[in-house]
Amino acid sequence: MLQIFKTFDELAQGVAGYIFSAIGQTLSAQDRFSLVLSGGSTPRAAYTLLSEPAIARQVDWARVHIFWGDERCVPPDHNESNFRMARETLLSRLPFPERNIHRIQGELPPQQAAEAYLQQLEGFFGGQSGLPHFDLVLLGMGEDGHVASLFPGDAALEVVDRWVVAVEHDRPPAPLVARVTVTLPVINAARRVALIVSGSGKAERVRQALSGADAAETLPAQRVKPKQGELVWLLYGDAGKWINPI
Ligand code: 6PG
Repeated sequence: MLQIFKTFDELAQGVAGYIFSAIGQTLSAQDRFSLVLSGGSTPRAAYTLLSEPAIARQVDWARVHIFWGDERCVPPDHNESNFRMARETLLSRLPFPERNIHRIQGELPPQQAAEAYLQQLEGFFGGQSGLPHFDLVLLGMGEDGHVASLFPGDAALEVVDRWVVAVEHDRPPAPLVARVTVTLPVINAARRVALIVSGSGKAERVRQALSGADAAETLPAQRVKPKQGELVWLLYGDAGKWINPI
């Protein structure tokens, strides 16, 4: 599924609405909802909308569990922390029990942070047999086509036997900082994945990813293909200009 929004505000509303419906539909059929947040600037406005009282009071947040697709190895109050962004826009504004917040501990050394996050996932999903099935994974896409912290050409992109890895990324435009990320098999085992993209610098990447022409090695976003789940692309303006000229 593909939706192109004319303004950034409409994209934010579309993303918030998508998350809201996914939570509602899922919680009518099961006890808990696992939501994987993405970092980056694009989802920030959507998280803020989701926490507005008119929407927020319709959700049973005690049954929603929050995870992250990736994190920079920085302390939780650092400007670059994905946890901090989510805390400011969403978590601090809603009645989440502490036990529902499953953050990546970016303040730890990268390997240790990856191991600690794996243990959290195993605890939640009940062991490492098979793969975890998150109810919804939100992803942004960088100008180089990266998703979560899976960058073009990095070994992490090829990992199939681990749920979580630590990565050192040393090429621009990404900052020189270690990160922890879930792997592609985990993303592709989700019940729903939403790729949220804004920014004109990404239009060509979006076109390539959606064209079907194989660019799997250079374009991580093209490898986001949930095996049994739903994939939705939510685009703003120029990011979708080759798909549906505006
Ligand atoms: C991050 C994410 C990264 C992000 C993309 C898109 O924490 O930065 O790992 O994958 O989602 O770089 O970011 P924007 O939405 O800011 O363009």
